[in-house]
Amino acid sequence: MTTYDADVEQPSITLVEVAPRDGLQAESRTLPTETKLALIERLADAGHTVIEVTSFVSPKAVPQLADAEELLRTLKRRPGVRYPVLVPNEKGLERAMSVGVNEIAVFASASDAYSRKNLNRSREEALAGYAPLVRTAKDGGLRVRGYLSMVIADPWDGPTPRETVRDACRRLLDIGCDELSLGDTSGVGVRYQVVALLDLLTPEIPVAKIAMHFHDTYGQALANAHAAMSRGVRTLDTSTGGIGGSPFAKMAGGNLATEDLLWLCRGSNIETGVDLDKTVATAKWLSAELGHELPAHVSRALAHRVE
Ligand code: HMG
Ligand code: MG
Repeated sequence: MTTYDADVEQPSITLVEVAPRDGLQAESRTLPTETKLALIERLADAGHTVIEVTSFVSPKAVPQLADAEELLRTLKRRPGVRYPVLVPNEKGLERAMSVGVNEIAVFASASDAYSRKNLNRSREEALAGYAPLVRTAKDGGLRVRGYLSMVIADPWDGPTPRETVRDACRRLLDIGCDELSLGDTSGVGVRYQVVALLDLLTPEIPVAKIAMHFHDTYGQALANAHAAMSRGVRTLDTSTGGIGGSPFAKMAGGNLATEDLLWLCRGSNIETGVDLDKTVATAKWLSAELGHELPAHVSRALAHRVE
């Protein structure tokens, strides 16, 4: 397939759709379980094969996702679609396994301050604590993703040294994570920094194991995703409508919008398997359910053309 983009040679990428988790955790309105299920159905209908559906975290910390068990019990899982969930500790893993989850994501931070705010543990404690948890998950046959937040900079600690990111990546892979997702959680990074980070990491960490997760606080998420693709990253986290953010880093803007990346991919002949019009229709529906306009550019631009 011809690509019009000399920087991006890979003909296809995989999207990890995070609206039901990263998106809804940041909303002031908690959606009913049946509305979340309808969202997940719509995302699968649009062609997503990886949908991060919820988190098994403390309901006091993230009340928007307190219905995780009910959601998983009711979810009609489709063959060919993966439904990962976030897990912060053994209690979360037990809860997830009790409802038959077969893929989890643990989440650590490359910086110390965000680790303490998000997990109530130091960076070191969190990374060390995940070792037995990941072992239990792998022994149970689960696939495990390892998130690493604040890979460019931390709002409290400042710039994150790239070598620190590399060390944390190595540790997450050493304890058994199948894939990494490197997060610019506060969305401050720019293209140059993404390329510099990947150039440091990829001589020793296979790029096939690296996904990237960009928040769009400073409007850089699409450029950063493109930079990551130009360095061979084939898995990108996106959120329909561009919703998202961390309740524990409130300056973080929404996630890279699925439809914004789809627009770039469509114009560059990069295959995603995800339908743009269905995504835009879902963003419109989700906007009504959440009661506010969503940040994605492409949905706003196409609004008049999609029912
Ligand atoms: P803690 O207070 O240190 O934990 O919380 P604890 O073990 O002392 O437990 C305190 C209470 O929470 C207890 O209940 C536990 O039972 C309960 P109490 O006795 O007070 O009634 N608890 C739980 N309940 C249900 N499920 C659990 C669980 N664990 C403890 N799994 C903890 C530490 C991390 C658990 C808590 O602070 C928490 O759940 N935080 C939520 C973190 C979170 O969801 N953050 C957002 C997702 S990460 C993110 O957005 C970044 C990402 O998108 C990538 C990027 O953008 O960079 C992934
Ligand atoms: Mg995030």
